[in-house]
Amino acid sequence: MEDFNNLLKDIDLSAEAPKEEPQRQYYYMAKAREYVKQLSKRLGHTPTCHIATFGCQMNARDSEKLMGILEQIGYVAADSENADFVLYNTCTVRENANLKVYGRLGHLGAVKRSNPDMMIGMCGCMMQEPDVVEKIRKSYRFVDVVFGTHNIYKLAELLVSRFESEGMIIDIWKDTDKIVEELPNERRFSFKQGVNITFGCNNFCSYCIVPYVRGRERSREPKDIIREIESLVADGVVEVMLLGQNVNSYGRSLETPVTFAQLLQEIEKIDGLERIRFMTPHPKDLSDELIEVMKNSKKICNHVHLPLQSGSSRILKLMNRHYTKEHYLELVEKIRREIPDVSITTDIIVGFPQETEEDFLETMDVVEKAQYESAYTFIYSKRTGTPAASMDGQVPEDVVKDRFDRLLEKLSGISAKHIDKYVDTIQDVLVESVNDHDSSLVTGRMRNNTLVHFPGESGLVGKIVNVHLTEGKGFYYFGELSDN
Ligand code: SAH
Ligand code: SF4
Ligand code: F3S
Repeated sequence: MEDFNNLLKDIDLSAEAPKEEPQRQYYYMAKAREYVKQLSKRLGHTPTCHIATFGCQMNARDSEKLMGILEQIGYVAADSENADFVLYNTCTVRENANLKVYGRLGHLGAVKRSNPDMMIGMCGCMMQEPDVVEKIRKSYRFVDVVFGTHNIYKLAELLVSRFESEGMIIDIWKDTDKIVEELPNERRFSFKQGVNITFGCNNFCSYCIVPYVRGRERSREPKDIIREIESLVADGVVEVMLLGQNVNSYGRSLETPVTFAQLLQEIEKIDGLERIRFMTPHPKDLSDELIEVMKNSKKICNHVHLPLQSGSSRILKLMNRHYTKEHYLELVEKIRREIPDVSITTDIIVGFPQETEEDFLETMDVVEKAQYESAYTFIYSKRTGTPAASMDGQVPEDVVKDRFDRLLEKLSGISAKHIDKYVDTIQDVLVESVNDHDSSLVTGRMRNNTLVHFPGESGLVGKIVNVHLTEGKGFYYFGELSDN
């Protein structure tokens, strides 16, 4: 942070903005600082900001970058939306994510009426949909800035435009081939950190809107990833989560192609790093090389999140997933055989168009055979513009609901069986927080991602400790600190 302070102080604002990045953004951050200073005088306090993040880890990571920029230009973070700048980083993967945002935005508009200096920004995946932007332009005219997923690094430049003009600033790019490195960053946790390895997605699963709102897949250079992780570790990070919509296709489009497994081996060498996680590996591209690297690694956690989506090969084909039920099950078997004590979790969609009872029973069969440690289940949501949205045979709501309930019941029975497995063993746990409900307890994660609660103090947060697991509770454990 000090580095940015010095860098921004020396910028000559009477000169024109540089054309190249990231220098251009440094210039606009310095300029935005001046406006925020003026705002601060007018308000009589340091302006506050709040980012509400919806959706997945990609958005969570983007919000950290956005917060980094806001803090550089002089805002201080506030816990609530009662702030001088409120930014919604939105998700549109399912319709209900989308509806939630409109509801909250309406409420925010009312707050702004009583605080005219307040600014409101909208960004993230929803903003990549033209009809959403149109709706905001027409019906939510109190919004100050609107931008998408490809240009978050331009936040300071967009705010300067807003400070210098009246009305809503809208800047949405359809796609980009650019990755801008070396920008500020505000980390939420001192001890763990998400690290982007790819942006975008090329898979076009037929139900999914992500490729349309996040653009084509781009991989970061290995040296940029390694450098980022090295500096995180120097800053106290012990666990990284490598992020990509399909981490298994990492590196294919680089000038010098690198596989995901090779990248992992390089990351493994970083001294001081204790745990490596990744999200999400697509089953169609999960290689033997990756399983081998995981098996031999001391740092890669024994957890694989392997989205199934459906257990029916017929539906998988309609979903454009490029694997069959049999291939998926073979993969699960191989992973369980090669990686001791691995936990396998998944995502499942119920009610994809044309899903019959037989197809659903295939999904139940995979669930039974794969014995997932846990699973996220979703009701199929029609996303305009995706191929599945115009498929015949949308499944009636009551049928979907019935299948969904049956699936949940089956999954919870299976997770409960797993949780007894490690009772009375000692496991290493990275302590993540003081327990939300009982402050005499702390909460952490085992290497296989299972949650553990045990008596302890806030000083343990960020440390990896040995915990004796005393009791399994469905999907988490109770335990106690152990000396050995
Ligand atoms: N890239 C990741 C998933 C990103 S979206 C992967 O391929 O696994 C996270 C999850 O949301 C998906 O795994 C899927 O189960 C669910 N999902 C995506 N689109 C959906 C839709 N239209 N309706 C219901 N669930 C959906
Ligand atoms: Fe969506 Fe499929 Fe890409 Fe995942 S791999 S983000 S489900 S299109
Ligand atoms: Fe949602 Fe965008 Fe993630 S649509 S799930 S926030 S990539």
